[in-house]
Amino acid sequence: SAAEFDDLPRTVEVDENITSGVVASFTVNCTTPSSSGLNVTLVNISPTTTFFNSPNALGNGTFQVTLRPGTDLNAREVNQYILTFTAQCPEEVPVTSQLYIQVKKVDRLECDNTFLNTAASPLLIPENVAPGTVIYTVTLKRKGRGNLMFSLENGSVPFILNGIGEVLVPATGLTHTQAGKLFQMNIVVNDGDGRSCHSLLMVQVQPVYHNTVNFTESSKAVSVFENIGPLQTITYVHAHGEGRVIYEIISPSTVFFTINSVTGDIKNTYNIDLDRNPELAQTLLLVRAYNMLHPTDSATITVNITVQHQNLQGPMCSPAIYVAEIPEDSPTGMSLTTLSCVDKDSNNRTLQYQMENSQIPPNSFRMEFNMLQVNTTLDCDSAVMASLGFQYRAIILVTDSGSPQQTTRIPVIVTVSRVNEYKPECSRQFSFSVPENAAFGDFVANVNGTDRDYPFNNIEYSILGAQNIFYIGRHSGNLYVLGPLDYEKRKSYPLTISLKDLDNDVNSQFQREKSCNITINVQNVNDKAPVCKPEIETRTIYSTSASDTSIVMLQCSDEEGSQLTYTIVGGNINGRFRMQGSQLFHNTFSYNRDGIFDPLNYELLVEVTDSLSTPSFSTTAIIIVHVIPWTTTVPTIATVITTTMVSKKPNILHRTEEYWAPDPWFVVVLTFTGILLLSALGLLFWHFCCRKTPTEISQPLLKNRGERMERNYIVTEEPNKDKGKVSAEEHHHFDGSAQDPVTGQYYLYDSSSGARRWI
Ligand SMILES: *[C@@H]1O[C@H](CO)[C@@H](O)[C@H](O)[C@H]1NC(C)=O
Ligand SMILES: *[C@@H]1O[C@H](CO)[C@@H](O)[C@H](O)[C@H]1NC(C)=O
Ligand SMILES: *[C@@H]1O[C@H](CO)[C@@H](O)[C@H](O)[C@H]1NC(C)=O
Ligand SMILES: *[C@@H]1O[C@H](CO)[C@@H](O)[C@H](O)[C@H]1NC(C)=O
Repeated sequence: SAAEFDDLPRTVEVDENITSGVVASFTVNCTTPSSSGLNVTLVNISPTTTFFNSPNALGNGTFQVTLRPGTDLNAREVNQYILTFTAQCPEEVPVTSQLYIQVKKVDRLECDNTFLNTAASPLLIPENVAPGTVIYTVTLKRKGRGNLMFSLENGSVPFILNGIGEVLVPATGLTHTQAGKLFQMNIVVNDGDGRSCHSLLMVQVQPVYHNTVNFTESSKAVSVFENIGPLQTITYVHAHGEGRVIYEIISPSTVFFTINSVTGDIKNTYNIDLDRNPELAQTLLLVRAYNMLHPTDSATITVNITVQHQNLQGPMCSPAIYVAEIPEDSPTGMSLTTLSCVDKDSNNRTLQYQMENSQIPPNSFRMEFNMLQVNTTLDCDSAVMASLGFQYRAIILVTDSGSPQQTTRIPVIVTVSRVNEYKPECSRQFSFSVPENAAFGDFVANVNGTDRDYPFNNIEYSILGAQNIFYIGRHSGNLYVLGPLDYEKRKSYPLTISLKDLDNDVNSQFQREKSCNITINVQNVNDKAPVCKPEIETRTIYSTSASDTSIVMLQCSDEEGSQLTYTIVGGNINGRFRMQGSQLFHNTFSYNRDGIFDPLNYELLVEVTDSLSTPSFSTTAIIIVHVIPWTTTVPTIATVITTTMVSKKPNILHRTEEYWAPDPWFVVVLTFTGILLLSALGLLFWHFCCRKTPTEISQPLLKNRGERMERNYIVTEEPNKDKGKVSAEEHHHFDGSAQDPVTGQYYLYDSSSGARRWI
């Protein structure tokens, strides 16, 4: 027969705070007496849970329902569980029934110590935990009823427990003395119903290590040259810290740099050659320093290492200095030399050639790549170049492209030799004048030329062609008078002057020459006395002749052509004559036997002057006038006298001649002379047909070369010539008189010179 649950289904109540033990029991009967084959199973729990164990058979068909250990019933969550059992008797059909377990709410207080920090694993907090930090909160499993109160059983901990069960670090924080200590706190929770629970809390304060290691600077940058060899100290770092500080390079992982772990010196492990390892031009090292005992006490620094190309040597050039001598007319662009330069430490790099900006004089030379060339017209013909000793100076700069750039200086010293480039040039003035009376050695003009070659105007002068009128100063170009000048004979002298430069060329034999044509004009100077032809005029007039009719017109002239003035200076007794220009007029005569009885013969001396200004020259003409009173018959002898008068050479008088008074003997002499001349006519006839005329000695004597020329009296030895009147002036030049024994002619003589003057 089928099994039968005796007391099921039924409902049991269970307090929610039961955690173990029997919840309910029930019995199952089989109809057969033997119940040994009875099988009871818990087939379902609703809602599903593992809180309940399978039914526990106690025998005699009794079964217990028990809770699993750790069961935590909660009426607020599930207040009824339905457990379904099946029971099966042997060889019978199974029977099913339910047990309803109602969970009853219970008010209680229970601390949750599930995650309690125990002595084995205390709560660890650092010594430097922030003040006010909540380090623990009391949790409750069951809240109980009423207001909860939290308190510490042990009050000597450096923590604060607040009203809601939180454990806090005090506002002052923890002190260093609390570091490393373990604190135990028994927290008691009370509710209003007198129930309580407690939590035991262990807090371990851990000491905090203060970082002491720090670098003396925050970063570092260094610059070194390449190729300095291995293991050179490039730089160093230094850090302060407690205990021993150790240095290490963290990055990069290159092997090129190493740091001394004790001193912090940073070295290069290999020689750095940027041509091989260009990446080493820039390296950022990250270096760490740490306390050997506390490796976390550390600091880092970046070290910026720059490696520079090293260029220590400038280019080497040949020639290293350029010295030369070239002619001044070397053309612009002429190449002087070509530099050949090599640069050891910046191989295969372009070298730059240029002139330093310090040429003396500037811009003289230039570089055409590596070729030195003449850049301007070189010149010797300046005082500046002469002061420089005709030396041009410059410096060539040859610069490589290394870093730093290196420059080699090549001095250039070029001496420029003089070239006679220019011909002398004539003086601008080519026409000069000189007065005809200029004497020997008188300065005429300076005909100096110019020459642009240095030394300037160094010229030698000479007059080309034969002439002995002028002389030129060889170096001065001054022209002087050498020979006598006479405007009336020659009015101008064309001269060709040769100008030859001197010492204008390295080869002193190389001279340039220029011929200059000049003209010297002789200026007219009044140096001749007027000449009257004839010098003696004789007229016979009646005293009654008209006074407005000229008696005689003097025929005088002057080579210079100046206006002549005529003045009666002697013989004008009673003022009976007057000159109007060259004409002689008479006034009224008086032949009163009882009163004034004018002479019957007048010898008038007329001074003929060529100029009113000085120097003036004059001559004296003689006019002999015979006056025939109206009662007298025509005289006969006057015509005879006229024919005897012969022209004479002029006397140069620089002052008015002395008055020559007609003495009473004059008439006697005149008459006597007339007789003599008659016989002289016969002699003259003999002279012209039968006798040769002796040569005239008529020469101007140059007393002293270079001095003023002095003219002596012109004296003739020839009889019958120049005879006649003897002036008072002439008398001074003769110291005696005699009669020619042959001809019976009288003459004056000069005993010192032997000169004679026929009378
Ligand atoms: C390290 O030194 C630098 C100055 O070199 C300073 O500014 C910095 O505050 C220091 N750091 C520490 C942790 O002492
Ligand atoms: C390192 O130094 C070089 C040269 O002074 C500079 O050009 C470069 O910017 C620096 N690098 C860093 C990261 O400071
Ligand atoms: C060469 O001469 C020119 C002017 O003719 C000038 O401008 C230049 O600077 C000169 N060159 C040198 C290197 O002096
Ligand atoms: C040469 O002539 C010039 C003018 O033509 C003058 O200035 C200079 O003084 C003269 N020299 C001499 C030595 O007379």
